[in-house]
Amino acid sequence: MSQAVSQTLEAEYRETFPVSAELYQRGCANFPSGVTHDGRYLEPFPVYVNRAGGSHKTTVDGPELIDYWMGHGALLLGHGHPAVVDAVQKQAALGTHYGACHELELNWADWVIKLVPSAEKVRFVNSGTEATLMALRISRIVSGKTKVIKFAGHFHGWHDGLIPGADAPHDVASYAMPGVTDGVMGDLVIVPPNDLAAVERAIDEQDPACVFVEATGGHFGTVPVRGEFLCGLRELTAKKGVILVSDEVITGFRVHPGGSQGYYGFTPDLTTMAKILAGGLPGGALAGRADLMDALQFDNQHGKKMKHPGTFNGNPLSAAAGTAALEIVSTGQPCDHANEVGQRLRAGINEVFTRKSAPWVAYGEFSAVNILPNYHGPRPDGDEFIPHENQLELLDVSQDRRLTCAFRTALLLEGVDYFGWKAMTSAAHTDEDVTRTIDAFDKMIDRLREDGLSE
Ligand SMILES: Cc1ncc(COP(=O)(O)O)c(C=O)c1O
Repeated sequence: MSQAVSQTLEAEYRETFPVSAELYQRGCANFPSGVTHDGRYLEPFPVYVNRAGGSHKTTVDGPELIDYWMGHGALLLGHGHPAVVDAVQKQAALGTHYGACHELELNWADWVIKLVPSAEKVRFVNSGTEATLMALRISRIVSGKTKVIKFAGHFHGWHDGLIPGADAPHDVASYAMPGVTDGVMGDLVIVPPNDLAAVERAIDEQDPACVFVEATGGHFGTVPVRGEFLCGLRELTAKKGVILVSDEVITGFRVHPGGSQGYYGFTPDLTTMAKILAGGLPGGALAGRADLMDALQFDNQHGKKMKHPGTFNGNPLSAAAGTAALEIVSTGQPCDHANEVGQRLRAGINEVFTRKSAPWVAYGEFSAVNILPNYHGPRPDGDEFIPHENQLELLDVSQDRRLTCAFRTALLLEGVDYFGWKAMTSAAHTDEDVTRTIDAFDKMIDRLREDGLSE
């Protein structure tokens, strides 16, 4: 026994998922910590999955799970939506990489321009990380400046330029990142979120090329950003002539067909996208003002072109999946459904916590269901509820690793795969999923209490 979680929990977990335990031995031989994404790391071992459909995925051990990872947020339509599967199957037979321009990339870009209010021109890349990297480089080329402002707790992918400051704790010493040079750190200005005065000071003192924001708040609203802050940020950056980059890698096509800018009605200069954009296949994009995107153009007005190769840019399979998915997203129904499921889960889970007098709370907006353990502040009084009232910084905390593993394994034993401390709901989640998930939370609290891991 690794004793990563309590003895009883671990024993039952090992008994329920024995094949996963075995596969993880191979994983550890092949990969650092046995995994291919830090977020999939789980002690004593993660579950292995070999099939998925709709809102469910099936483990190699047999048990089926209600999935709240949903492809790390990419699968708004659920696993294996027939229109997406059909588009990908047809395209796979026609060719997976032409090394040439093709009509599907035009159709895909048409959807982006139609749905995303600020998108005048588009360039496809392969991930959200690549999209934010491109936004940063273009901002520097166009402005001739080097510094970048980002908010503490906002995540923009894992490249050197923006990964520091993504996770708590947020103090200057903790911003140093192994492998990121002092030179890169010197160009990065990290400002607390929801504080326009601090942004204004940073702009005046640092003269940045651009400001990056996760438009509904860091890590999809773990610390919410409200519409008023976004609109204020837009006004301020426009007044100061600083490029505003809205990172819509998660929010894009999710909170609303037009992303958070469609929902809140603000217009960033550049917008980064990925996840739902490519219908569950790899893909990303940068879109925005034509004069800024012009930095990618040969012989452009800036006199400097941003070099941009990329073997799989706009690849036909992602274009086929993305086009099929965005057409369905454009109806608004998938976003509405996912948002409504999110609301019902938040309410139902909070009822469980209140009934059981457990010091836990669920909160969030849109299709995010964040869970905060060890919470003793005011209780929810509706879906607008934000824990800790105005002390939003208290929301951005790293949870104890043992509690995190216990929470996740206890839910897995109840047939629910929670995306860390946050669920991402989809258009495929059903009433039955909601009822079963709420019940799973009830039992999760019992398990953790039995093991002395929750009050
Ligand atoms: C807001 C945001 N930006 C950027 C990224 C990075 O995207 P990717 O994982 O596709 O590189 C993510 C990934 O979760 C994200 O949530």
